[in-house]
Amino acid sequence: MAVAVVYRCPECEETFCWRGDRRQTERMGDQYEVSEAGVEALTIPSLRWEEPPEGPVVVLLDQTRLPAEEVELVCTDVPALVQAIRTLAVRGAPLLGIAGAYGVALAAARGFDVEEAAEALAQARPTAVNLGWGVRRAAAAYRTAAAGGPDAQAAAALAEARAVHDEDIEASARMAAHGLGLLGELLPGGGHRILTHCNSGALVSGGEGTALAVALAAHRAGELRRLWVDETRPLLQGARLTAYEAARTGMAYTVLPDGAAGSLFAGGEVDAVLIGADRIAADGSVANKVGSYPLAVLARYHHVPFVVVAPTSTVDLETEEGSDIEVEQRPGHEVTEFSLPYAQGPGAEAGTGIPVAPLGAQAYNPAFDVTPAELVTAIVTEAGVVSPVTRNGLAGVCSTSRWSKSRSGNGMMAE
Ligand code: MRU
Repeated sequence: MAVAVVYRCPECEETFCWRGDRRQTERMGDQYEVSEAGVEALTIPSLRWEEPPEGPVVVLLDQTRLPAEEVELVCTDVPALVQAIRTLAVRGAPLLGIAGAYGVALAAARGFDVEEAAEALAQARPTAVNLGWGVRRAAAAYRTAAAGGPDAQAAAALAEARAVHDEDIEASARMAAHGLGLLGELLPGGGHRILTHCNSGALVSGGEGTALAVALAAHRAGELRRLWVDETRPLLQGARLTAYEAARTGMAYTVLPDGAAGSLFAGGEVDAVLIGADRIAADGSVANKVGSYPLAVLARYHHVPFVVVAPTSTVDLETEEGSDIEVEQRPGHEVTEFSLPYAQGPGAEAGTGIPVAPLGAQAYNPAFDVTPAELVTAIVTEAGVVSPVTRNGLAGVCSTSRWSKSRSGNGMMAE
């Protein structure tokens, strides 16, 4: 596998010195990407902040290229980062929060208009609440430091972005521990066969993620018999990304077409469903990757626990009900064409893939669906487990989280 690296050269000390037989330095606006063959690293972080002599950058593991290639995208400005968010090079709720916060820090450090950058970042995708949350935290820190001048403001925005990142690492570990405990209660005896949808592991997090972190904890505890991985049409986050993470971490996994889940349930092959979330409304409704709601209906019919794992930063108490959640609509060509994302990279356009529907076919392509609270067995957060899922239970767990201040409007989230 060709592995892309952006690294500090041990000989010349330059941050962007690329070596190796195969290199890619293809530029995409202000993004550029590099590959190097033969590097065995399996620990490329999904996102990192770098400060080469040319100026600060946000470096992303390009998730559109996985699993074929591990290629990094280097964003030198906010429009490049916004493009990476829209094209899903960087994706998943917690990571979008981290990316948004670093995006504000990038604008501040490079002397761009921070308010304009924050607006563009927050609007890049509408459903994942963490994106706007991360942006607002870094922007609030930037504003609060105004008296110190631009350097102090940039430092404050970066410190806040690092805090968002660190908190996600910690939340991830806590969710894994709470989730493992819950699985033990729901399914005593181990040997779990867990079905998951989309991707919710290390690729979407500073740590090991949300739902997939729980499955990984079960695997490490010797309690995971099988991870059923929904392929997750149309962009295959399950087949491409969750399977990639499962393989790397040695989990026993099987990829299935989304439509095959029903027969798995009917055959008694699923002990629990574990998914993440992009936004949880105050009433406990859960927006997650399209295809999650049908799984919840199946799980209820077959008396299988349906568990959502998400940090309290994904709970949006200002959105009263599931029907108030804005669901992102994606371009139709993602459904009517097969475009191998890793072959085309970010920004793949209509007409560039292999047609799988007649020319001009209409497509319905919501990125997410909303599962009502009554179908959710439990919501696992870093601050504890909510079960049954009620408005009061959710508000209670949020009030005990470290981010509770931001919810009462007395600080971090202030505009
Ligand atoms: O469109 P995506 O790939 O960003 O959607 C991601 C999901 O739906 C994840 O399941 C969700 O963000 C939870 S990940 C912790």
